[in-house]
Amino acid sequence: MLIVANISLLKLVVFFIQKIVVMAEQEYGGSTEALPPPPPVPLDFSPEKAEPAPVEKKLLRVPMARRGLGKKGRNIQILTNHFQVNVSNVDGHFFHYSVALFYEDGQPVEVKGIGRKVLDRVHETYHAELAGKGFAYDGEKSLFTIGSLPRSRFEFTVVLNDITSNRNVGTSSPPNEADRKRLRRPYQSKTYKVKISLAGKIPMQAIANAFRGQEYENSQEALRVLDIILRQHAAKKDCLLVRQSFFHNDSNNFVDVGGGVHGLRGFHSSFRTTQSGLSLNIDMSTTMIIKPGPVLDFLIANQNSRDSVSLDWAKAKRVLKNLKVQTATSNQEFKITGLSEKSCREQTFILKRRSKDEDCEVQTSEVTVYDYFVNHCNIDLRYSADLPCLNVGKPKRPTYFPIELCTLVSLQRYTKALSTFQRASLVEKSRQKPQERMQILSHALKMNNYDAEPLLHSCGVTINSDFTQIEGRVLSAPELKAGNGVDIFAQSGRWNFNNKRFFESAKVEKWAVVNFSTNCDIGKLVECLTGLGETKGISVEAPLKVFEESRHHRRAPPVGRVDKMFEEIQSKLPDAPKFLLCLLPERKNCDIYGPWKRKNLADHGIVTQCLAPGRVNDQYLTNLLLKINAKLGGLNSMLAVEVSRSIPMISKVPTMILGMDVSHGSPGQSDVPSIAAVVSSRQWPSISHYRASVRTQSPKVEIIDNIFKEVSDTRDDGIMRELLLDFHASSQQRKPQQILVFRDGVSESQFNQVLNIELDQIIEACKFLDEKWSPKFVIIVAQKNHHTKFFPYGSANNVPPGTIIDNKVCHPRNNDFYLCAHGGMIGTTRPTHYHVLLDEVGFKPDELQELVHNLCYVYQRSTTATSIVAPIGYAHLAAAQVGQWMKSEGTSETSSSQDGLRNAGPVTVPQLPRLQKNVASSMFFC
Ligand SMILES: *[C@@H]1O[C@H](CO)[C@@H](O)[C@H](O)[C@H]1NC(C)=O
Ligand SMILES: *[C@@H]1O[C@H](CO)[C@@H](O)[C@H](O)[C@H]1NC(C)=O
Ligand SMILES: *[C@@H]1O[C@H](CO)[C@@H](O)[C@H](O)[C@H]1NC(C)=O
Repeated sequence: MLIVANISLLKLVVFFIQKIVVMAEQEYGGSTEALPPPPPVPLDFSPEKAEPAPVEKKLLRVPMARRGLGKKGRNIQILTNHFQVNVSNVDGHFFHYSVALFYEDGQPVEVKGIGRKVLDRVHETYHAELAGKGFAYDGEKSLFTIGSLPRSRFEFTVVLNDITSNRNVGTSSPPNEADRKRLRRPYQSKTYKVKISLAGKIPMQAIANAFRGQEYENSQEALRVLDIILRQHAAKKDCLLVRQSFFHNDSNNFVDVGGGVHGLRGFHSSFRTTQSGLSLNIDMSTTMIIKPGPVLDFLIANQNSRDSVSLDWAKAKRVLKNLKVQTATSNQEFKITGLSEKSCREQTFILKRRSKDEDCEVQTSEVTVYDYFVNHCNIDLRYSADLPCLNVGKPKRPTYFPIELCTLVSLQRYTKALSTFQRASLVEKSRQKPQERMQILSHALKMNNYDAEPLLHSCGVTINSDFTQIEGRVLSAPELKAGNGVDIFAQSGRWNFNNKRFFESAKVEKWAVVNFSTNCDIGKLVECLTGLGETKGISVEAPLKVFEESRHHRRAPPVGRVDKMFEEIQSKLPDAPKFLLCLLPERKNCDIYGPWKRKNLADHGIVTQCLAPGRVNDQYLTNLLLKINAKLGGLNSMLAVEVSRSIPMISKVPTMILGMDVSHGSPGQSDVPSIAAVVSSRQWPSISHYRASVRTQSPKVEIIDNIFKEVSDTRDDGIMRELLLDFHASSQQRKPQQILVFRDGVSESQFNQVLNIELDQIIEACKFLDEKWSPKFVIIVAQKNHHTKFFPYGSANNVPPGTIIDNKVCHPRNNDFYLCAHGGMIGTTRPTHYHVLLDEVGFKPDELQELVHNLCYVYQRSTTATSIVAPIGYAHLAAAQVGQWMKSEGTSETSSSQDGLRNAGPVTVPQLPRLQKNVASSMFFC
């Protein structure tokens, strides 16, 4: 068994290296028969963009093969939203062609979204030349056929009616009558040149090989073609496509979540290779869209304002940028590029007019936008005279429209982060109970009728209409210990501290309360906290003082309010307090939160807990105490196996556990730095104490940048050195001999980078501290954004907490499993998909699965099992909190960017201030 696994591993390694050579050849040799490059994640085959791949001599690590199946736990029958697929045509080939589009003048087409229309037209017009073959087109640069086209190169010309205005509408003013007449013909149609050339072929046998775990690269390619067919199928039904999720333009699927935003329900649909063959994975999916209609209505809803007078136009500009509008005066769609500086009544432009006799010179005059529309076009403007105009032109050649003439077109994605309220509303309105979801999915499968899709039909694809039945196991909850050795037994993934003390209790002493204008009774709050604390074993001293914000400061910007408050604290308390309880005016999204945390942790090294009054009851205060205790260095509960030092492979050998995550700005914000957070366990043999190290890095970069720094710069030693030194200091001067990495948020296409780039950096960091030190590694990726769901057979409930699946729907070769550690209360439980990429320690399947399950029971912020291992949960929290610090930079950013140190690299990413020493190793993120 093991030998077989190793041989296939070796084959893969060899294959990987050959692959790189092939890519390099293709780059220079340009052979059309060469294999296409491996699937990059934004589907992009552009040969121009492909960089020559470095030919590495070093063996690259590849994801390990499964070593066996777990056995522990009680068996449970489960249905899953995978539908078995059979492929009968395995003799042919998919032919891959690259597609390039050009305008008539030879300029390449860079506008997205036009490709499908152009290729549809090509297909119609040149039916005979293409021998009537059906296309599977990805909408960009790749096209696939089943069997070859008659020739390997084509050049076609097609004419399309133009409905979008992305190019050539550069009129510097609204078109006048004469212009309109002149423009009508040429601007309503556009000519495209289409070049199609053969790029490679993929044997369809690869699909069948896929689930035997063979010939990995080709089968990924072949599956990609099948997925492209699904996308194209949805595109033909005018769906909005978001990767493999498809959204019909049907108002029954809209969910109003407030703020001018709709959730749009649709379906995810993709082919997956699994241990039991090929399956079609269908799930529900929701994307956010802008509520179509008048721009002004949208803005008022979006800003939650009473009327157009009170709108914040700077905010409006940010949210409107790049949205498409239609105007009352034409059928064209325009993309918003900005707003006019002046109001419609004051904003002028140069109007060009020809005098009566046609060939004479053009007269120019300066008119206001208002005057032009009202007096020249006879359009009544009722309320936009004093509002800014929309600019749909280019920065240097603006084109203005009064805002009331513009309506937002439908199916435009909203990519900004949702507010707490919107998110709650979305969850409330879009969740389905397991049974309901199953019905909807069955219906969706029937409606799509993929068996009849011509291309799938040609591949001989048939799809079973039943949910696949599989066998899962339910792991029993680990036993926990509270204070004084009292046992805690979790029930359905939850427990409580009724009549129990915390495992290790911190002291709340030398502390103060800070009040940012709230209406809560602070005396009572402190009293309750003290009383409740006592029952949990936490002694809460009387606060030194209660600080109230002076009324004069309440209107100041958030950073100013925090600074003033600290001046006050420092003047009254010469010795810095050890803890500050901070009352915020509103629950979340409070703009004081980020600056407040930053000031406390980075400037003063003070532990702080924020709360917002509202439902302050015993449950709320107990949860608050859980966090306060963890932040002050206590521990609420511990695993019994941790206390008895009987965790297999961990308790006997110094082991460090890492949780890694990178969080990015929302898709619309390409300039917001990404934040990498790595948390690490400390005080081995504990696996419940953690600390965090957080850095900024270039926007949208997933691979963590600052793991290791060779040159010790005074500002930054790199993440790993900081964490390793802390582990050493907190674990009786021991170096970890084993390092377990839990990595969140990477897709399958990035596994190799995690295994090679990030792991190499961690190893370098170890070697830097001690050349002879080579710890063993375990690398586990956790994914939540997949579409596999589980439904207990014959029950209307969610799967019970502890449900684990490592067969049938898992990867045919790789070492992965699904775990639902948490109890699903509402909606359908979302399992976490763990991929064990590397295991140098040599865990047995049951041991590793149980360890992962146990790590879902050490999250100190709650008394429930978590859906993902605690170290990853903490990494999320740390990244999110520090992300809030960045927000506080806001206006000060321009001044600080003149700081020479920041401009060291080619891309300047603002650096974060470090935490003060006395809080650096705390669970500040709890
Ligand atoms: C799948 O297709 C193959 C090849 O045509 C056929 O032999 C087999 O019976 C099919 N299996 C099922 C379950 O339909
Ligand atoms: C969506 O549907 C609405 C109402 O049926 C229609 O007015 C609109 O044009 C459609 N949008 C798209 C992009 O198909
Ligand atoms: C908190 O501050 C606000 C305004 O500064 C004040 O109105 C309120 O009474 C204070 N709350 C307590 C309990 O002192």
